[in-house]
Amino acid sequence: MKYTTILFDLDGTLTKSEEGITRSALYAAQKMGFTGFTAEQFKGFIGPPLFVSFKGIVGMTDEQAAQAVEYYRERFSAVGWAENEVYTGIPNLLKGLKKNGAKIAMATAKPQVFADRIAERFGLTPYLDAIVGPGLDNTHPSKKELIEKAVSILGGEPIMIGDRLFDIEGGQQNGIPTVGVTYGYGTEEELRDAGATYIAHSVEELAQILLGDAQRAKGIFLTMEGMDGCGKTTQRCALVEHLKNLGWDVVTTREPGGDEVAEKIRTLVLDPKNSALCDEAEAYLYAASRAQNVRALIRPALEAGKAVVCDRFVDSSIAYQGGGRALGRETVRELNRLAVGDTMPDVTVYLHMPPERALSRRLSASEPDRMESQAADFHARTYETYDHLFEGETRVVQVNAAQTIQEVTREMLSAVDERLNALAAE
Ligand code: TYD
Repeated sequence: MKYTTILFDLDGTLTKSEEGITRSALYAAQKMGFTGFTAEQFKGFIGPPLFVSFKGIVGMTDEQAAQAVEYYRERFSAVGWAENEVYTGIPNLLKGLKKNGAKIAMATAKPQVFADRIAERFGLTPYLDAIVGPGLDNTHPSKKELIEKAVSILGGEPIMIGDRLFDIEGGQQNGIPTVGVTYGYGTEEELRDAGATYIAHSVEELAQILLGDAQRAKGIFLTMEGMDGCGKTTQRCALVEHLKNLGWDVVTTREPGGDEVAEKIRTLVLDPKNSALCDEAEAYLYAASRAQNVRALIRPALEAGKAVVCDRFVDSSIAYQGGGRALGRETVRELNRLAVGDTMPDVTVYLHMPPERALSRRLSASEPDRMESQAADFHARTYETYDHLFEGETRVVQVNAAQTIQEVTREMLSAVDERLNALAAE
């Protein structure tokens, strides 16, 4: 890698922050008696110092602008800061940069306290060696000064990445090369006129400029486990949404199933008419479906740097066939080795719920499949096995699923974040 110290602007470069910024600016303008503006007109607030925008865009005096900044912060610190999402592909890019030994900093015009909070909330903190932003003291340091500070902390061979002319000019004033990204809030013309060394139209192009031929980072593999009826499907949707917000390109799959072939195996294994299917054949069929899914879908997605969320994986076989069918945990684990190789989840969410409660929820929802029609002792053994399966496993995030949907989601996401941060810091 040519550049070893990578400086990122925040808004419009790492995160798509327009909602929180424009809404907070509209709120402040309104409170100051400047009405009739639209969110579209206020997009110009993204990037430059607020004080400058309240004067330039809204037409305020110095005094009014200073007061408007106060009002803006009132709303922004309460809700606006979280009305944000990371651009797709950013976490994988940061992971790739780290993997290749780069130092990474954020150099932003956003007050340091908010920059810190956003980095924390959106999973960026573990990748960042420094976050440089202004204090809340209304001194408005220029981009040049912020970049200068970041470079003095990290040294190395720096490059500045941003979406507005301020980022490009700030880089130039420090004599360092720049990348102008056009997926943010500036125009290509603005970035070219400011003299950007490179232009990137997408996160992928940015990765090409920064990483070149260096090896990219693999994606992340998450699985969901639990008894039938534990609420897995609902929580999986919440997890997928959350990962997208964090900037992951997400592929969702399920087991048994995945691609066309694996879905055929699913139909076969879950068909209530196949009551003659013996336990051993059942175990092989689940493993066969998995072998197919790993090769057709999971591995290619991980190689491409995506996040894969799989509804059930090997742990289900160990619990249902190893425990429920009493084939033995080790036998089933062994039988799955060829199917999965070293493709094992980085994070497993286990939604914990006793079988009686889970199954009664499941059966009230729709017709039972072949597995759900099994006798109660089968489900009891499955549950028993699940419950002992994950002791001491750091990849597993165990969540009490016998709470309201919102409570389960909150508990799950905060535990997943913790695990993802730990992975990113490794
Ligand atoms: P699931 O897709 O969770 O069911 P649904 O879509 O009806 O909610 O799982 C299908 C069933 O297959 C479920 O009862 C668990 C069972 N199963 C196993 O017995 N072993 C396995 O390896 C897997 C993946 C699932």
